[in-house]
Formats: sequence, C-alpha cells, structure tokens
Amino acid sequence: MDLNEHHPVGVDFGGSGIKGAAVDLQAGDFAGERVRIATPSPSTPERVAQVLVDLLAQLPEADGPVGVTVPGVVRHGVVGSAANIDASWIGTDADALFSEATGRTVRTVNDADAAGLAEVRFGAARGESGLVIVTTLGTGIGSAFLYDGVLVPNSELGHLELDGAVAESRAANSARERESLSWEQWAERLTRYYRALEQLFSPDLLVVGGGVSKHAASFLPLLDLDTPIVPATLRNRAGIIGAALNVS
Ligand code: BGC
Repeated sequence: MDLNEHHPVGVDFGGSGIKGAAVDLQAGDFAGERVRIATPSPSTPERVAQVLVDLLAQLPEADGPVGVTVPGVVRHGVVGSAANIDASWIGTDADALFSEATGRTVRTVNDADAAGLAEVRFGAARGESGLVIVTTLGTGIGSAFLYDGVLVPNSELGHLELDGAVAESRAANSARERESLSWEQWAERLTRYYRALEQLFSPDLLVVGGGVSKHAASFLPLLDLDTPIVPATLRNRAGIIGAALNVS
C-alpha cells in the first residue's frame, strides 16, 4: 500500500452511510482502509459537508483530490434533483460547498454515473463497445448511460414513466421490500422496466448494480429480455471507485 502517490479519494454518499477510501486507479481498488460514518438525518448539504470533513480526517495519508457521489442529478457541480435526499440539496453547488469545507479539490458526480464509470473501467462492462446501460437497484433506480466507454451523465432512467407510475416506485429494490414481492413477482416488474429500456435505447448490454445484485442468481435468470444482462462486479466498491475516477 503506497499512499504517497496522492491517490484520489472516493466518497460514496448513501442513504445509511457515507463511505470513503483512497483509490488506486491502476489496480481499480482501494489503496487503503475504507472508513464509514452514518449518514446524518436530515442529510442536509451542511451536515453532509461536516461528515466529509470528519471522514477525510480519518484518512490523513490520503491527500489527493476528492470525488463524491450524490444520489441526484449533478450538473457542473450543482445538484438538480433530490428524489431520495433532503430537498435542500436542489440548487446546491456541492463542488463549491465541499471544496470550501475541506480545503481540497472536490468533484461531485451522480451515484449511478459513478458506478457506471467504475464498471466500465474495471468491472462487468470493461472493454464493452456500443451502448451499455448500468442500473443500480436500491432505494431508487439509478442509471448510467455509456457509449463506447464514454459516460453521458444524468440519464435518470429510474424516473421513466411505467404503467402510469415513476418506474423506480414500482421496480426498485425498495419496492420489492416494501411490498414483500417474491423474486418471481419482482422479476416481472423488472422485465417490464428493462423491456422499456430496450424499446427506447436498443442497448448492447445491461448491467445490474446496487446491494441486491449480490442476489443476482435469484432474479436475473427470471428476466425475459433480448439484451444480455449481467450483475455488476464491483458491488459496494463501485461508488467510491467511480467517484475517484471522476476526479482524476
Ligand atoms: C435519483 C438518481 C439516483 C438514483 C439512485 C434516483 O431517485 O433520481 O439521481 O441516481 O435514485 O440513487
């Protein structure tokens, strides 16, 4: 482990925890220990900025630039949506807030876009040409749209309208849990959802991330699709690694 190379730090802002680590971008893995602080409630920008300061203090040797994920639209550092986070994020210049709070160079990226960047560089979509859509199934549905490895940010495909509802409200992992759906029942909804993506975008590959992807064997074989669909391989490291990729 050599932290003297000024590895970038990746920080993943999630619903329950804010996690960070220095990232070795050659190896595509953490360069040191991962630290975690519980997400404050409410998770307002100021409180999250303070957690970021505390978290970086626990990684004293990791002095490179800092990449941070946010579960919302991020355009040029400014957060544009807040479906599953405190509404006060909307309009917040997260890059400016975090840079000022930490005294470091900080660059913010949508959480699913970060996962997509990591999977295309080091994971399930590595070396894939054409259109790859990475989806993360969690509280919401996040998406990353990558063509020949290049990210088109903020695709927000969890917010497509499906059967008169916002897709993530019916097909996210939180919907499976909330409604106690069996794998079969959930797979039907996911088939509906991914069929809509096929119809609209004709992807070459679909990648499924989010915590539930560790159970991929229980539901992916039940999906009825024309496009190859595979589980993400970086699992819960994807956000941190992708955030670091985005700042380097
Ligand atoms: C948000 C996305 C985010 C996804 C996963 C959605 O509700 O709109 O920006 O990527 O949840 O966290």
